[in-house]
Amino acid sequence: MRGKFITFEGGEGSGKSTHASMLAQRLKALDIDCVLTREPGGSTGAEIVRHIILSGIAKPLGAETETILFAAARDDHVRMTIEPALAAGKWVISDRFIDSTRVYQGALGKVDMKLIRSLERVTVGATMPDLTFVLDVPTIVGLARAKSRRGSGAADRFESESTEYHDDLRRGFLVLAEREPKRIVVIDGRAPRDVVAEKIWDTVESRLLGAETAAP
Ligand SMILES: Nc1ncnc2c1ncn2[C@@H]1O[C@H](COP(=O)(O)OP(=O)(O)OP(=O)(O)O)[C@@H](O)[C@H]1O
Ligand SMILES: [Mg+2]
Repeated sequence: MRGKFITFEGGEGSGKSTHASMLAQRLKALDIDCVLTREPGGSTGAEIVRHIILSGIAKPLGAETETILFAAARDDHVRMTIEPALAAGKWVISDRFIDSTRVYQGALGKVDMKLIRSLERVTVGATMPDLTFVLDVPTIVGLARAKSRRGSGAADRFESESTEYHDDLRRGFLVLAEREPKRIVVIDGRAPRDVVAEKIWDTVESRLLGAETAAP
């Protein structure tokens, strides 16, 4: 049977990487084979493009070019990592996916949604997530967490944007969640880590594992 595809979305420091990895551990404990991956990146070709995007070199080329670079990375990621794993029955958990592009490049970067949707059709096609978590935290909480995690290293291309930018990001994810309630679940990321993890697990159990055990 084909595996399930789960993505984690949300602003900087909202807990995506933490909870993607906690969920992967929990599935592994149930003997569910799963692949933990991330965007931009997640495959050899895509990791090269990640470096170009996050270094900020592509920013002067404009939001459209940046969007096309993300799409190039995603195409490689879907074909080389996600699709083969799902086809082999493994579960795939991705730290960011299409919703990040819709919000960062679409809602905030003002890239035409038609371009974004066309690129999605080419790169993602039918490989849509079965379930997406949007981790929602106030901007100051997210940026403080991202900063303390980073230590003395430099902020990346997106982390160094203004507070207003991050507020808009947060709203952007919430709007997407309202539009696609069947796929996207918003989780309050302010709660302690274990509480957040438990809410995520309950959702996975009821939406994906429950459906599986109920099937004939
Ligand atoms: N619920 C939580 N309560 C307290 N701290 C948390 C919680 N979730 C994550 N953290 C901590 O906040 C920091 C940022 O979390 P994490 O790296 O998972 O966020 P992220 O969404 O992946 O961020 P980025 O977008 O920058 O990659 C980490 O140090 C993590 O341990
Ligand atoms: Mg992260």
